[in-house]
Amino acid sequence: MPQTPPSPLSAPQADAPSSGRLNSLVAIITGGGSGFGEAIAHTFVREGAKVVIADRNADAAERVALALRTSGGEALAVPMDVTVSADFARLMAETLARFGRIDVMVNNAGISHANQPMLSVSEAEFDRLYQVNVKSIYLSAMHCVPIFRRQGSGSFINIGSTASVRPRPGLSWYNGTKGAVVLLTKSLAVELAPDKIRANCINPAIAETPLLTTFMGAADTPDNRARFLATIPLGRLCQPSDVANAALFFADPASAFVTGSCLEVDGGRCI
Ligand SMILES: NC(=O)c1ccc[n+]([C@@H]2O[C@H](COP(=O)([O-])OP(=O)(O)OC[C@H]3O[C@@H](n4cnc5c(N)ncnc54)[C@H](O)[C@@H]3O)[C@@H](O)[C@H]2O)c1
Repeated sequence: MPQTPPSPLSAPQADAPSSGRLNSLVAIITGGGSGFGEAIAHTFVREGAKVVIADRNADAAERVALALRTSGGEALAVPMDVTVSADFARLMAETLARFGRIDVMVNNAGISHANQPMLSVSEAEFDRLYQVNVKSIYLSAMHCVPIFRRQGSGSFINIGSTASVRPRPGLSWYNGTKGAVVLLTKSLAVELAPDKIRANCINPAIAETPLLTTFMGAADTPDNRARFLATIPLGRLCQPSDVANAALFFADPASAFVTGSCLEVDGGRCI
């Protein structure tokens, strides 16, 4: 029987919090000002969470937080750099001052060098890559774990990449950072399990975000896209919503027994 569409007058706004799957949980999302992080923030708020958009780009963080508040959600923007310990300390302090606790820490902010031969990547680029993609996990743990321990619960969701499982040529040093993200996720999971702290990881395939042309190492033309699509059995790029839905599963108390898990969200790319 065909379903009657909801009346536009009674339909909830896109992100209006409901008694959803994340009701009353507090989540910090690094890199929440763009791409996957922005989609994760919208999905979490739709499911009833309160979110903190932590991003180096202050305008982007404020834009996303404002959009979430406008749609009826609770969201705070905190401009910060994930490579700076003092910024993490301020992020924790501002989150606790505003929301009183931290349930989910999404380590999503990340960068890549352009797709190119490995010997063309400068030492400075290599160092920055490891600071943003790997040191950020260390700093996140240093600042979050004491809070999670005090609360007796907490959950890390780290954004890795299929690069950690099935590396592409031209992205070697980036691939290495994501390998570290996977192993650190499992290490956090096993060491922190006695504290009832979980850690899981999402490995997306190449996606339609501002990072796309960096990974392609070329303009976003139909021909260049086709080369990448040919390696993805389901025949499309990853969308931010695909990653947001996986993050929702790991944040949801329904996944309480899942830790140390690294989930490919890749249309079959890693098979
Ligand atoms: N897009 C892809 O194809 C793809 C595929 C697999 C994994 N990933 C990973 O997903 C994550 C998000 O990627 P995206 O495609 O959404 O990227 P994006 O460029 O759209 O967004 C990244 C956000 O992180 C912020 N950021 C960058 N450096 C930061 C820093 N030092 N401190 C704080 N914020 C910082 C940026 O300002 C930006 O808002 C990254 O870890 C990336 O490696 C992306």
